[in-house]
Amino acid sequence: KLYDIGVIGLGVMGKNLALNIADNHYRVSAFDLDVLKVSGLVNQAEKEVGPHRTLGIKGCDNLVEMLADLEKPRIFVLSVPAGKAVDGVCQALVEAGIEQDDIVVDTGNSLWTDTIAREEKYRHQFTFFSCAVSGGEVGARFGPSLMPCGDKKAWHRIQPIWEAIAAKVDPQSGLPIERTQPGETVTEGEACTSYIGPAGSGHYVKMVHNGIEYADMQLICEAYHLLSQGLGLDALEVSAIFERWNKGSLNSYLMEISADILKQLDPVTSKPLVELILDKAGQKGTGLWTAVSSLQIGCPAPTMAEAVYARALSTQKTQRVKLSGLLSGPISPKNGLIDHTKAQIFIDQLENALYCAKVSSYAQGFQLMAMAGKEQGWQLDFAKIAKIWRAGCIIRATFLQSITQAYQHAADGALENLLMAETFAVALSQKQHDWRQAVSQAVLNGIPAPCISSALAYYDGYRSAILPANLLQGQRDFFGAHTFERIDAPEGEKYHLNWSSAERKLHKVN
Ligand code: 6PG
Repeated sequence: KLYDIGVIGLGVMGKNLALNIADNHYRVSAFDLDVLKVSGLVNQAEKEVGPHRTLGIKGCDNLVEMLADLEKPRIFVLSVPAGKAVDGVCQALVEAGIEQDDIVVDTGNSLWTDTIAREEKYRHQFTFFSCAVSGGEVGARFGPSLMPCGDKKAWHRIQPIWEAIAAKVDPQSGLPIERTQPGETVTEGEACTSYIGPAGSGHYVKMVHNGIEYADMQLICEAYHLLSQGLGLDALEVSAIFERWNKGSLNSYLMEISADILKQLDPVTSKPLVELILDKAGQKGTGLWTAVSSLQIGCPAPTMAEAVYARALSTQKTQRVKLSGLLSGPISPKNGLIDHTKAQIFIDQLENALYCAKVSSYAQGFQLMAMAGKEQGWQLDFAKIAKIWRAGCIIRATFLQSITQAYQHAADGALENLLMAETFAVALSQKQHDWRQAVSQAVLNGIPAPCISSALAYYDGYRSAILPANLLQGQRDFFGAHTFERIDAPEGEKYHLNWSSAERKLHKVN
């Protein structure tokens, strides 16, 4: 009996993708170098399905066997760590006899430029296609958000499978249609997958998703820090505030899990577990890639970059401890720094500040994708991208329905920046006073809030028809003869002043 799809790499993501595909009635042939992972998957499939039904999952001993198992042209799904491992498997597939029409889909967090290079490299051996996946292990099992890119013909082949396994959204409300049980399938609703564009584009979009994810996480952490250091609230009190915020415009998966995390008590000491977790953050690199790309393209994305810096700073624990005893500034007393009679006012201001910072951060992410898309010649459809982030992925939030609508309502290409969308421009102008108050409180009380405040600087930067770059151009011309343009001369006309000479002559430079 032939199988529909081969899954290679059975770590948590690969295993769960295989089970998800099988739940949707596609027959899966599965392989991992670790035989225990293969038997683990087969055992789990048997356990989950029970005696009444069988899942079409078969474990393979090697890739030659997998090739023989699969219907032609074959589809392979790779779920191996980004980097060398992807090329390792591609090479092994070539040696096992993969054919020109076969499709290999890389689902790791690969660097988008690697994906472009791989499509080219394997062009004469098979079709290298790729699909970025978001949603962690639960998403992979019950419905991830999928960002495919590469050869269009390959996409048409895998599209039905992808639409079946992706998370689903109710088109009217924009809310996820939950699937939580093995064996369940959801056929109604809009699938959280859409063809993104040529090779690399899907991974670029996923990379920016992760940049936004980093910023979303750090924004919530800064709110927690302001509530605990500023108002002296304990973890349970902050959790209750987050639960309330999660019912309003700040509703998101990350807000929900943050409220949950803050509630969790340590099984050993019965103290809030969060207070016992070491304050050093890890990272695998996708947020960093986003910040680097924004710098290379010249697209401001300060909130995402600050989120990466915040993780980096957190790892400097020894230095922070040393300097905490050396550098002066406001010191948080037990009951917090902020006047308690104004606690509720501050909490409400912070809620609005967080919303505004989130809008600013998403504006940065979408603008970055727009500029990269332009540079690469990708026709990115932002309404579709926002749509497929409404469920399944880590940044899923009701807020993404508003972004979807903002892009749908804008005439083609008219929305250069999300801040121009009426719904966000109006909300920001109404809430900005609270945003400024929250940032001021952070600054006055010496509580670092780099993402909330850099998001405000971005907003104020784009609100400024005039910036001090005139002086900056003067400085550059002064010491380096780098020239400047004049506001009273045609665009592109360059001038240089002989700043250091006595007569200070102005030259028009050709
Ligand atoms: C997702 C996540 C996931 C990512 C890490 C984040 O969308 O499912 O973004 O792809 O790899 O969970 O990684 P770090 O925080 O370790 O960088």
